[in-house]
Amino acid sequence: MAVLEQLSDGVLIVDEQGLVQLINPAAQRIFGTTEDKAMGQSIVKVLRQYQLIELWKQARETGESQLIPVEIPTKRLFVQGEAIPLGETLPGSTLMVFQDISHVRRLETVRRDFISNISHELRTPLASLKALTETLQESALDDPPAARRFLTNIETEVDALSLMVQELVELSRIESGKVPLQLKSVLPEELLSEAAERLRLQAERSGLRLIIDCPPELPTVLADPPRMEQVIVNLLHNAIKFTPSGGEIRLSALLEDDSVVFSVSDNGVGISPEDLPRIFERFYKADRARSGGGTGLGLAISRHLVEAHSGKIWAESTEGIGSTFYFSLPLAQ
Ligand SMILES: Nc1ncnc2c1ncn2[C@@H]1O[C@H](COP(=O)(O)OP(=O)(O)OP(=O)(O)O)[C@@H](O)[C@H]1O
Ligand SMILES: [Mg+2]
Repeated sequence: MAVLEQLSDGVLIVDEQGLVQLINPAAQRIFGTTEDKAMGQSIVKVLRQYQLIELWKQARETGESQLIPVEIPTKRLFVQGEAIPLGETLPGSTLMVFQDISHVRRLETVRRDFISNISHELRTPLASLKALTETLQESALDDPPAARRFLTNIETEVDALSLMVQELVELSRIESGKVPLQLKSVLPEELLSEAAERLRLQAERSGLRLIIDCPPELPTVLADPPRMEQVIVNLLHNAIKFTPSGGEIRLSALLEDDSVVFSVSDNGVGISPEDLPRIFERFYKADRARSGGGTGLGLAISRHLVEAHSGKIWAESTEGIGSTFYFSLPLAQ
């Protein structure tokens, strides 16, 4: 019986009259009951879930095992229920086993959302490529300047598609752990300035001031420099994209316990409280119309890279005031 106590699957034995003869702790948790309350009680009162009661009835009537996946809404659980008639061993009694399959269900939902998002993202550039080539074929070929403009547009769409595929490949490589990190001890300031240099011109062109604010005496962190620079570049890129001309972007780093916390702060459009918890999801864009270019993968990639470094990434924002993205990296020691 000690085995039943330890088992993560819920186990219940019901006699011929439908009274509970045994219930293990896992089953008590799933159905929100205790051994005292459940023992000798009717299965209808204990399970309170008609599909599972039907399952038991069918097993009893047919003498054959029955299997069904059901949702337990009160506990937000998905369980696979199985009713096994005990036949000769305990005539009329039924063994019921409940396996928690919630995590499998959640993965399925994530995968479904992902596929619907990616189809959406592919549809837009493909539709415009289709329209561009059709127009080119129908008329624009006779008008060389127009034709050239169409070709430029086609090239832009193809570039966007290739970038998206490249980002997806990168993301799946990081997620499957196929990107070995080359960890080194680096100064926080080096990571910040390297990334800032790459985007300084772009920031200036957008009329933004780029400031690095990093105490020189910070200890080194353990990081794969090109990968971490990519994270900072992603954050900076967003800050530039979502801050109107005249704004300011500040890059900083400070020591906190046994890690260095980096931040990229802007005084741009900000993110609404509803969107804030979701921006690190793949393909999530707060305002599709305003976000325009971009696939919504930048932050998902950044999150994976930071987590691969045993760090954390998070954001704070007030709409109309600005946003600050933070990430932490462990000290090199
Ligand atoms: N600094 C910021 N200010 C306001 N909104 C932001 C900021 N950074 C991110 N966001 C919001 O979070 C969303 C997700 O950002 P993310 O970088 O993942 O995607 P993206 O920039 O839209 O596309 P990509 O990075 O793939 O080119 C953005 O579309 C935007 O709505
Ligand atoms: Mg981005």
